[in-house]
Amino acid sequence: MAHQITLIPGDGIGPEVAEATVRAVDATGVPIEWERVDAGARALAEYGQLIPDEVFASLEVTHVGLKGPTATPIGGGHQSINVALRKKLGLYTNFRPVRMLPGLKTRFHDLDIDLAIFRENTEDLYSGLEHEVVPGVVESLKIITKNASMRIARAAFEYARREGRKKVSAIHKANIMKLSDGLFLKCCREVAADYPEVQYNELIVDNACMQLVMRPETFDILVLPNLYGDIISDLAAGLVGGLGIVPGANIGDHHAIFEAVHGTAPDIAGKGLANPTALMQSAVLMLAQLGERDASARLHRAIYEVYAAQEHLTGDVGGKASTGEFTDAIIRQLG
Ligand code: NAI
Repeated sequence: MAHQITLIPGDGIGPEVAEATVRAVDATGVPIEWERVDAGARALAEYGQLIPDEVFASLEVTHVGLKGPTATPIGGGHQSINVALRKKLGLYTNFRPVRMLPGLKTRFHDLDIDLAIFRENTEDLYSGLEHEVVPGVVESLKIITKNASMRIARAAFEYARREGRKKVSAIHKANIMKLSDGLFLKCCREVAADYPEVQYNELIVDNACMQLVMRPETFDILVLPNLYGDIISDLAAGLVGGLGIVPGANIGDHHAIFEAVHGTAPDIAGKGLANPTALMQSAVLMLAQLGERDASARLHRAIYEVYAAQEHLTGDVGGKASTGEFTDAIIRQLG
């Protein structure tokens, strides 16, 4: 039976990278019925809503989405689409694997970087609880709960066990935020005790940033509250070539959305120059989540082979190929 997937192409280069990814996924032979829905600036112009009701209606049925970047208009009280989707669908795990692609020249290309980042996605300073106490004094509330901390820690350790990974590092600032980050650490320690085969350590976030830049190859799995997770996820992406390369997944108990983490790149939109690697790598994660492990591994391998050959890469990573030529090369590798 075909898998049903909600496809949100998004804005700017979104439709181009989405179309490329659909072609590559279809070429794996996995039967998929794509249900295309609009969200973002285009949806706002057409339906008067950033996230039209049909987006949620579709995800209620499919439970799985593949999403290109969407433009969130600045100001005017618009909530970020990604934040809205995460909240409404309870997507509490933000998962970002960070691996070096072969042949890609980065500052760290001679190191074997292979990180998996588990960022808590629903609370911390992203709760949006801010107010002006008196003129000139503003308070933002950092919310950390046992429930959310336990489930993100559990997600990280379950992944470690399933994938045979060695170490989970909890990142915190509990030396200063003794109660909130202290609770996060307490939960990580409690969960760690259930996984004796996985090493566990803790790093203060500033030290973690330095160590990640100096010795990225010594890290394995990271688990973090929302804000540190946001910052460290992008730092880690920078180690392997930037946001155009790395995939992302937002996962809850009942829904998952796989997305490119880069923006809509308005400067190159519609020119056939966009690099679809990030969304294709997100599709690799999506196929694994659907239980299509063989197709997931084949698409992953095809992307690595095209990078290793270096003949059909897009301009942002030093090549001359168009989005379509890169995608054709991936499809040829899939055989
Ligand atoms: P951006 O990621 O769109 O662009 C930054 C630079 O990277 C540009 O030079 C762009 O051409 C390049 N770039 C990005 N992705 C690329 C790709 N796949 N292939 C080749 N080059 C690529 O970031 P910017 O300019 O800050 O944001 C533009 C818009 O994107 C804004 O409206 C913002 O709200 C939205 N955005 C959406 C995100 C999402 O939906 N996940 C995430 C970040 C930004």
